[in-house]
Amino acid sequence: MITRKFRVGVIGCGGIAQVIHIPGWLNLPEVEIVGVADISEATARKAAAAAGTANVFTDYRDLLKLDLDAVDICTPNRVHTPAALAALNAGKHVLCEKPLAVTTAEVRQMGELADRKKLKLMTAQHQRFTQSGVAAKSWVDAGHLGEAYHARVRAMRRAWLPPQPGFIDAKLSGGGPCMDIGVHALDLCLWLMGFPKPVRVSGTSRTVFAKGKVMPNLWGEWDRKRFSVEDFAAGFVHFDNGATLVLEAAWMSHQQENEELLAQLFGTKGGLKWPSAEFATVTNGTFAQGTLTHPVAVPHPHWNEIAAFTDCVRNGKPSPVPWTETIKVIGILEAVYQSQRKGREVTVRG
Ligand SMILES: NC(=O)c1ccc[n+]([C@@H]2O[C@H](COP(=O)([O-])OP(=O)(O)OC[C@H]3O[C@@H](n4cnc5c(N)ncnc54)[C@H](O)[C@@H]3O)[C@@H](O)[C@H]2O)c1
Repeated sequence: MITRKFRVGVIGCGGIAQVIHIPGWLNLPEVEIVGVADISEATARKAAAAAGTANVFTDYRDLLKLDLDAVDICTPNRVHTPAALAALNAGKHVLCEKPLAVTTAEVRQMGELADRKKLKLMTAQHQRFTQSGVAAKSWVDAGHLGEAYHARVRAMRRAWLPPQPGFIDAKLSGGGPCMDIGVHALDLCLWLMGFPKPVRVSGTSRTVFAKGKVMPNLWGEWDRKRFSVEDFAAGFVHFDNGATLVLEAAWMSHQQENEELLAQLFGTKGGLKWPSAEFATVTNGTFAQGTLTHPVAVPHPHWNEIAAFTDCVRNGKPSPVPWTETIKVIGILEAVYQSQRKGREVTVRG
């Protein structure tokens, strides 16, 4: 029986760390938050007070000198790779917010280092831990979908553009809605498809509204000069098994819904929509449809994700979101950007 507490350090103490991750760690009695780091000392101090630790750092390399089992990385996207590499080199397991990295080369570098060091690396894809995600996965694993031959992935907003520099400045984020919200629906969809290997992508990524004044933002004003990512992207993906996928992601668009997050799968036996969990099939020549139910309520998917990471480290289980899956997600998003730059279909890296 493990009696020692699981010792965690948090790197990046902004919105997601304070609102979601720190409460999620505190929810686990076997966990102790041993220290926190943020380049803003005030932000780090506020998070430390909530986390119940006196160890506050403005450089995460100082946090890594502590006796920690794991770190939880909640910085802007571009800091994920250097922070994760430093943590893995210091012998710590790593839970890292999405996107794990913004290029496949970085994902591979992190993943191979984790493997060499026999450390866990998990991408925080909390949608896999939602009630609809768990129900959809069980239905697919029971064989009701058959072979997935096509999918639609949408992460489209009317006017929810995150104004923080960490999202809109390409130097910090590495991408716009593709990397911010497209990554959620795409990961979920590929997980349900059984992670076929993406091979070719034709894509577009553009800034349609975010440099102008036409579209009001439900999250307030943003720095238009600093805005250097796409606000809309789309892609058409071919997999090595012949399956195809259409991807659309936007922070701003003329649509009625404030947000549509969708993965729709078309299989040889049935079809499924997530997160509505609606299915359609044919039974003995008769059309059948309905909504999946799941017996276990999932009150807080982020907390379940944190618990699953802790369990995998403490009990030697595989990472619930391994880098070998994440590299396929990032490979598609990277290829969308590359296709836009080259003006043609491109091969997916990985
Ligand atoms: N899973 C989800 O639903 C979800 C939701 C929101 C954000 N996120 C992800 O979480 C990450 C952070 O997003 P956020 O909304 O908390 O952003 P945020 O801007 O509120 O917080 C980021 C924090 O990181 C700090 N930081 C920046 N550089 C740093 C460095 N070198 N070392 C230490 N700290 C540093 C900033 O000072 C800031 O406090 C992003 O990768 C984002 O994609 C995930």
